Amino acid sequence: MRITPPPRTFRVKSFGCQMNVYDGERMGELLSAQGIAPAPEGEDADLVVLNTCHIREKASEKVYSDIGRIVKSGEQAGRKPLIAVAGCVAQAEGEEIMARAPAVSMVVGPQAYHHLPEMLAKAARGERTTDTDMPAIAKFDSLPARRRIGPSAFLTVQEGCDKFCTYCVVPYTRGAEISRPFNDLTAEAERLVEAGAREITLLGQNVNAWSGTDDKGRAIGLDGLIRALAELPGLARIRYTTSHPSDVTDGLIAAHGEVEKLMPFLHLPVQSGSDRVLKAMNRSHTAGEYLRLLDRFRAARPDIAISGDFIVGFPGETDAEFEDTLRLVDAVGYAQCFSFKYSPRPGTPAATMEGQVAPEIMDERLQRLQAALNRDQAAFNAASVGRRCAVLVERKGKKAGQWLGKSPWLQSVWFEGDHAIGDLVEVDLVEAGPNSLAARVVERVAA
Ligand code: SAH
Ligand code: SF4
Ligand code: F3S
Repeated sequence: MRITPPPRTFRVKSFGCQMNVYDGERMGELLSAQGIAPAPEGEDADLVVLNTCHIREKASEKVYSDIGRIVKSGEQAGRKPLIAVAGCVAQAEGEEIMARAPAVSMVVGPQAYHHLPEMLAKAARGERTTDTDMPAIAKFDSLPARRRIGPSAFLTVQEGCDKFCTYCVVPYTRGAEISRPFNDLTAEAERLVEAGAREITLLGQNVNAWSGTDDKGRAIGLDGLIRALAELPGLARIRYTTSHPSDVTDGLIAAHGEVEKLMPFLHLPVQSGSDRVLKAMNRSHTAGEYLRLLDRFRAARPDIAISGDFIVGFPGETDAEFEDTLRLVDAVGYAQCFSFKYSPRPGTPAATMEGQVAPEIMDERLQRLQAALNRDQAAFNAASVGRRCAVLVERKGKKAGQWLGKSPWLQSVWFEGDHAIGDLVEVDLVEAGPNSLAARVVERVAA
């Protein structure tokens, strides 16, 4: 039996969505509570956690090249770092990882990472362990309290997905939809604010499917949770992501008009503008229904910025169907968007559908779609010039006296002056670029 000295330093590398980033932070807190310190910037760590994403093939294959790189860097330094693979690739391909990558000692799924300490103890005895159990939400009860964090924090309120879009692995890697209890969430939000958060982004694979019972025993949805969190003194901004069109409620739309701390931003993926493709994707909404939802959000909050996700080249997508997507983009006028080439994922129904689209056609469609989305993003930024708004200071810029923050519409904003991270600064937006805006400070709002 090989006895390895316990790791003194760790590094968590998170890929994929914001929920993975949140999980990565929580794993870091768990390891810190074990007396393992974050590895200093630029130094190799004794323990590396690869917190992986399975959503597209490219993201998924990355894990093997990363493992190779860690092993090589360790060999050059004459040491053997412990490697843990976490996240959605761990959940989907745990056994394959163990077989293909002998350097990996721990494989841990997104619902099991609270077991990392026990797995580490076994790794010290030379045992390799896999834990991809999916106990309902148990992990949150066994994680240490939140530590000091930046001004903008994530809070996972809902996990998993019951929608089973035919292209997507998330229902398999993250399991069924589960809502965390109201009291746990208000308590965690309070701790985040005490630890320095001014903005909280509520996270869920389908965040607007969240439901719970508030402290007065009333059944509430995401809008009720948002209204309760808005009462927290010290918390200035609330955001949420990602929402699904089928779970949008009247209450959520109304909250955008009524809750001042709820930022005027909506990430509502649609994936395609063609009703036939949407049906084949099992999206449970049409393009028209999606557009009417947006009209209602805009009626409640006229300045709301809209964001979305698109997939081009879903099996069977014709030129005409792709044109429907471009037409929908024109009709919406997105402030920002994510767009992807369809990637067949093992075990999903779409992977074996007829009419897989050739890579060159996907490339061309993605280019055309992204040109349209970039055009609209630039137009949205240009139309923001002249607006006065509060910016949450997130970090220093490269030049002395320069700061970077976020506008209410989630735009990156540059400005100068004497500020501190976490300040809310009143600015005039004066100049727009494709990805950010320059601003002039109006006055300092008491922090
Ligand atoms: N729950 C969210 C996000 C899911 S993953 C939602 O339903 O919107 C984020 C995005 O990745 C999706 O919105 C989709 O645009 C994209 N995606 C998911 N599976 C994909 C696949 N197989 N190929 C390409 N893009 C995919
Ligand atoms: Fe995937 Fe669809 Fe669920 Fe989003 S709603 S996570 S795209 S299955
Ligand atoms: Fe990726 Fe898993 Fe998130 S597959 S996008 S890390 S839920």
